[in-house]
Amino acid sequence: MIKVAVAGAAGRMGQAVCETVEAAEDTELIGRADPALGVELADVLADADVVVDFTTPDTALANAEACLEAGVHVVVGTTGFDLEALRAAAETSSANCFVAPNFAIGAVLLMQVSQAIAPHMPECEIVELHHDRKLDAPSGTAKRTAELIDAAGGNVHQPIHSVRLPGLVAHQEVIFGGEGQTLSLRHDSIDRRSFMPGVLLAVRKVGGLPDRFTVGLEKLL
Ligand SMILES: NC(=O)c1ccc[n+]([C@@H]2O[C@H](COP(=O)([O-])OP(=O)(O)OC[C@H]3O[C@@H](n4cnc5c(N)ncnc54)[C@H](O)[C@@H]3O)[C@@H](O)[C@H]2O)c1
Repeated sequence: MIKVAVAGAAGRMGQAVCETVEAAEDTELIGRADPALGVELADVLADADVVVDFTTPDTALANAEACLEAGVHVVVGTTGFDLEALRAAAETSSANCFVAPNFAIGAVLLMQVSQAIAPHMPECEIVELHHDRKLDAPSGTAKRTAELIDAAGGNVHQPIHSVRLPGLVAHQEVIFGGEGQTLSLRHDSIDRRSFMPGVLLAVRKVGGLPDRFTVGLEKLL
């Protein structure tokens, strides 16, 4: 059994992760850390093999660093903070850190297909749409998609467009434009359950990763 603690356990994602970890046969939920529950991460860290963090951009780095200092593997889903600082912390740790800007397989496939299109139709724009309580903009998924497209020879026009409205969950469109034609890709997470298989995969694999710091669900597939 993998002993899992969840940071941000009272949040929208955290609650879904707790249910998923409780339901899986090979994982055990040993702690729910969240100021809303009156439980600090430090209170649950000692018993955990893996911590899953879905908190806020201003707390995720410190939480992940605390896990790494304690030798506990950490899976980070929180977006909107400096990943290079986390990379530096992970590289001197005895534990592994895995980060995914998006845990939904459909979003990962959209990024991969975008990379394949970029050399042939380089000009493109990204429109990301999320619920109106999301704290960061543009989304971590959109920033990662742009990085990958640019690295594949594409030209992502700036700015990335961020739509925030009630009723949305997490959505993204990449629109490529060429001479007399456009090509649009769209992914919709219509329920937070879309992220859970990816989170569970990361919980299972983080401890055995070859590198201390790994970004992207595609690295686990
Ligand atoms: N990677 C992905 O696939 C993915 C998918 C959805 C959301 N997200 C990201 O996950 C994060 C959380 O999203 P959400 O919608 O669940 O937010 P949320 O606001 O519903 O939940 C955040 C929770 O974190 C708690 N929190 C704050 N400080 C904390 C601390 N120091 N320790 C422990 N808990 C703390 C808050 O009390 C709150 O309950 C956001 O950054 C969001 O962008 C990532």
